[in-house]
Amino acid sequence: MSHDLPPQPLTATAGLALQGALRPPGDKSISHRAMILGLLSIGETRVEGLLEGDDVLRTAAAAQALGATVERLGEGQWRIVGVGLGGLSDPEGVLDFGNAGTGSRLMMGVVGGQPVTATFDGDASLRKRPMRRILDPLVRMGTEVVSEEEGGRVPLTLRGPREAIPVTYETPVASAQIKSAVLLAGLNAPGVTTVIEAAATRDHTERMLRLFGAHVEVTAHGPEGHGRTIALTGQPTLRGTDVVVPADPSSAAFPLVAALIVPGSEVTIKGVMMNPLRTGLITTLIEMGADIERLREREEGGETVADLRVRASRLKGVDVPPERAPAMIDEYPILAVAAAFADGTTRMNGLHELRVKESDRLAAVADGLKANGIAHVIEGDDLVVHGDGTAPKGGGTVATHLDHRIAMAFLVLGLATREPVTVDDGAMIATSFPSFLPTMQALGGRIA
Ligand code: S3P
Repeated sequence: MSHDLPPQPLTATAGLALQGALRPPGDKSISHRAMILGLLSIGETRVEGLLEGDDVLRTAAAAQALGATVERLGEGQWRIVGVGLGGLSDPEGVLDFGNAGTGSRLMMGVVGGQPVTATFDGDASLRKRPMRRILDPLVRMGTEVVSEEEGGRVPLTLRGPREAIPVTYETPVASAQIKSAVLLAGLNAPGVTTVIEAAATRDHTERMLRLFGAHVEVTAHGPEGHGRTIALTGQPTLRGTDVVVPADPSSAAFPLVAALIVPGSEVTIKGVMMNPLRTGLITTLIEMGADIERLREREEGGETVADLRVRASRLKGVDVPPERAPAMIDEYPILAVAAAFADGTTRMNGLHELRVKESDRLAAVADGLKANGIAHVIEGDDLVVHGDGTAPKGGGTVATHLDHRIAMAFLVLGLATREPVTVDDGAMIATSFPSFLPTMQALGGRIA
């Protein structure tokens, strides 16, 4: 094993229908960004509903190491006193981001644009992930890569310039992390930094930069307006503000699919963020025939949120177009589980980015499906799952490869298969959904 804790195997067993209501934890993407913009602004930022998972706590520790005052006031309530653009100090030790790809990559953008030097490291999963995609644009903006592991991996050390160079950067893959790193470095550039993306990715950085006082212009381009051009005016005065974090749709996905596949279930999931760049899974499940009602739509923290009432449903196989991938990039493992219960074939197209997540998710999902007797095939970058509308056999043990979403997806599978499903290590669930176990147990799910 490659985290320091002993592995925590968990087993899910089918039981009675799931019933009840829950509020998933705060959105991980927004929680990281609140810490980072809190660090870069002048004055106090108060965050309500922060995800207190290991990934975000690593970003909080890094913000503190770079000079911010970070305090926990109560459950999900945090206070950050920032240092302002230009006020960062060299951290004393290594910035250890654990399993957190988003935290580390966004903070590379921060350090890469400011006159500080910092070393980034992480766990065995993070040490495998490609950082060249972040370093390439940063080098163009004036960042010096002092040292790096082979292929641009952590541990690596960055030294930022006195002022960043404003650039126009076309992202080579659809990635909100690349876009965000460039924009965060561009905060310290004298001029306009522009990011061009062929397909729109989650826009939390743009929205939050505006909330803190930066000027950001966004225009749509390309076929059917799928692309985005984002132009940030550098060297703004960022002022601390209040941030309310809505519930994470990527965490909501697990109880949601559980309620669909466990016969007789009815579950309400409250306060889920409905940002259209995050709701691809819900769109897909509704196409599959899922009974999901959006109730009490309202605004919270600058985002639309809704309560989702989910009832067990007969699902049918569908084709998921590649253009939808950015809006559901973290949801393919749990969609593959839903597809295993559907009648017919579900084809998920264009999943190449899944190979560079916390694990090679395409391989991890395929291995997990195989271990549980679920017919599937990988064709190039597509995953094809065949279901016959009945509960799969299950009975397998799934290797999670330090990947929280692989662990949660296959535990959900085991809530409805004919035989229990075991995951080899559930420890990483704490990175994004620390209350996953008690939450699922409170609904009636048998996971232990
Ligand atoms: C994230 C962007 C996505 C996503 C990750 C969170 C973010 O990664 O998979 O969980 O908060 O910006 P990529 O930008 O690599 O697609």
